[in-house]
Amino acid sequence: MPSKSFLNKSSTIGIVGLGYVGLPLLLAYARAGFRVIGFDIDESKKAHLLRGESYIRHIGNADVATALAGGKLDATTDFARIAEVDAVILCVPTPLDQHFEPDLSYVRDTLDAVVPYLKTGAVLSLESTTYPGTTDEEVVTRVVARGLVPGESVFVVYSPEREDPGNPKFSATNIPKAVGGHTTACLEAGVALYQAAFDTVVPVSSCKVAELCKLLENIYRAVNIGLVNELKIVADAMDIDIWEVIRAAATKPFGFTPFYPGPGLGGHCIPIDPFYLTWKAKEFGVHTRFIELAGQINRAMPEYVVQRTMIALNAKGKAVKGSRILLLGLSYKADVDDIRESPTFALMDGFRALDAEVDFHDPHVPIIGPTREHAVWQGKKSVEWSAECLASYDAIVISTHHKAFDLQVLADSVDLIIDTRNALAGVRGTATLVKA
Ligand SMILES: NC(=O)c1ccc[n+]([C@@H]2O[C@H](COP(=O)([O-])OP(=O)(O)OC[C@H]3O[C@@H](n4cnc5c(N)ncnc54)[C@H](O)[C@@H]3O)[C@@H](O)[C@H]2O)c1
Repeated sequence: MPSKSFLNKSSTIGIVGLGYVGLPLLLAYARAGFRVIGFDIDESKKAHLLRGESYIRHIGNADVATALAGGKLDATTDFARIAEVDAVILCVPTPLDQHFEPDLSYVRDTLDAVVPYLKTGAVLSLESTTYPGTTDEEVVTRVVARGLVPGESVFVVYSPEREDPGNPKFSATNIPKAVGGHTTACLEAGVALYQAAFDTVVPVSSCKVAELCKLLENIYRAVNIGLVNELKIVADAMDIDIWEVIRAAATKPFGFTPFYPGPGLGGHCIPIDPFYLTWKAKEFGVHTRFIELAGQINRAMPEYVVQRTMIALNAKGKAVKGSRILLLGLSYKADVDDIRESPTFALMDGFRALDAEVDFHDPHVPIIGPTREHAVWQGKKSVEWSAECLASYDAIVISTHHKAFDLQVLADSVDLIIDTRNALAGVRGTATLVKA
């Protein structure tokens, strides 16, 4: 049983997949006093880490440099080195394919690379978000095929990641960590692994419970955001400010949690994860109607914002065709550099389809790098922030409200602002303001 070596921090922890989830986790175990090895197929991530540099904006170089200088951190693309670690934590992507179905290829490829080198007695933990049954079907099957016995010669657990990048109050280790094990012994080993670095560990009775726990959290958000987006459209039609309504409702001290409307969902989690359950539920003859409906509403929001912009331009005697439109905020949420699934792309596509001239400004995204779905925008640069530059646009759409935006300069420099985030609440200026 590996628990003792986690308690006295003599074990080595391997993190596989060093992205938004894996890198903070790697650093958290290094800070907790463990020797850590980061594994990724991306050579450039390894190179950054071995130079003591971070490649994620909200994670400072100092964190990486400190771990490296203390001799605690190593990084590699050589999966044979899995044989050196006492615990392997998998944090690889779980996207949807073009048919909106789970794409487990990253999880499967990673397992095929890791399992042959697993040390006897190692803990193997999957953290990627996925449908209930994945750990049993994908992880356990492979370790058993290698001749290992879960609960005896390998300890298989599932522990969902709850990282909220850029959140100043919560970072990897002070967010309670739910853990499920394939057997009781697996759970015990998993709890020991996570207790060594996390403030609070929440054991649950199986991997399936832990898998569905993560999906419930994200489905709860997707459905409630869908609801408030629908209510925004109703409120707009009735000339009621939905933001004021939410503010008032949130004064109720029980039974109400505020959710806020926006231009659509973004990020690696909320727009994607619910559909992992939708897909798996079909195997059991169940249709997840709430999830599908929320998905439809949320996916239609960019179109709604384009329409509202079109109407506002029309009121000024302008067509979208030929208008210069600037999107503020390319990343999907405030103050981070993550552009995955950002609704700003859908807005840019929508305006471009109507022959507008489209630009963006985002202090966190100086240039659009390679993406899976938006090759057409690759290489486009963020325009400068100056009153003169802002004034050269016919309409400015606030898609993500970064703290860095000087909203007074904005409100005084431009003719028309479409505000999808209520960013300009309390800011007075000369611009025509449309909340959408
Ligand atoms: N980003 C978040 O805020 C967040 C929050 C909670 C849960 N999650 C979940 O965590 C998982 C990882 O998400 P992420 O945002 O860190 O993804 P990411 O894309 O930022 O990072 C994934 C990393 O895995 C690497 N990788 C891909 N295939 C690999 C392979 N075969 N072997 C080794 N490495 C490989 C990639 O190079 C990349 O560095 C996903 O399941 C996601 O749904 C993400």
